[in-house]
Amino acid sequence: MISEIESQDDVASLISIFSEVWGAETLSEFVSNIQSNLCLLVKDYAGGVVTGYVFYDRDMRENFIEITDIGVAEKHRGRHFGQEMVDHICSQTDCVRLCVRSNNGSAISLYTSLGFKEILTIENYYGVGNDAIRMEWKRIR
Ligand SMILES: CC(C)(COP(=O)(O)OP(=O)(O)OC[C@H]1O[C@@H](n2cnc3c(N)ncnc32)[C@H](O)[C@@H]1OP(=O)(O)O)[C@@H](O)C(=O)NCCC(=O)NCCS
Repeated sequence: MISEIESQDDVASLISIFSEVWGAETLSEFVSNIQSNLCLLVKDYAGGVVTGYVFYDRDMRENFIEITDIGVAEKHRGRHFGQEMVDHICSQTDCVRLCVRSNNGSAISLYTSLGFKEILTIENYYGVGNDAIRMEWKRIR
């Protein structure tokens, strides 16, 4: 179930998943994400437990959505929560773009499974030796 942030508990779950995924020292990135991006959560149907989040933004000039970050709590991975969030974002637009670390196999598999294509490699995007792959999904008409 896709949801907006609806309560204090949702915020606590979001911070907890974000720091589990990226490390507790990334709090400043979290603050910057929440200030400059839109955010959606995915919840387990059974208990309404927050299992993951996606940050995204809309590029109004070129008319696409940029996914800036996505994470699923480790214990809930492999249950298609990541897919549900990316699918939901794709349903809102005709074009979605993102950057992913070239060595992040699970994320690249997730995006590829939904029809994203690699459009370019940006060398050293995440620091020297850490390249980014730019991926794009386009609605097929
Ligand atoms: C990437 C991430 C969001 C995927 O979330 P998830 O909910 O576990 O993924 P899903 O269950 O929706 O997987 C959907 C598809 O992606 C692929 N996939 C996902 N995880 C995979 C893995 N570890 N290995 C191989 N393929 C994988 C599979 O094709 C899968 O479909 P299938 O289960 O029918 O085979 C999650 O692993 C995560 O939070 N990783 C850490 C944060 C991160 O790397 N974010 C990406 C930043 S760009």
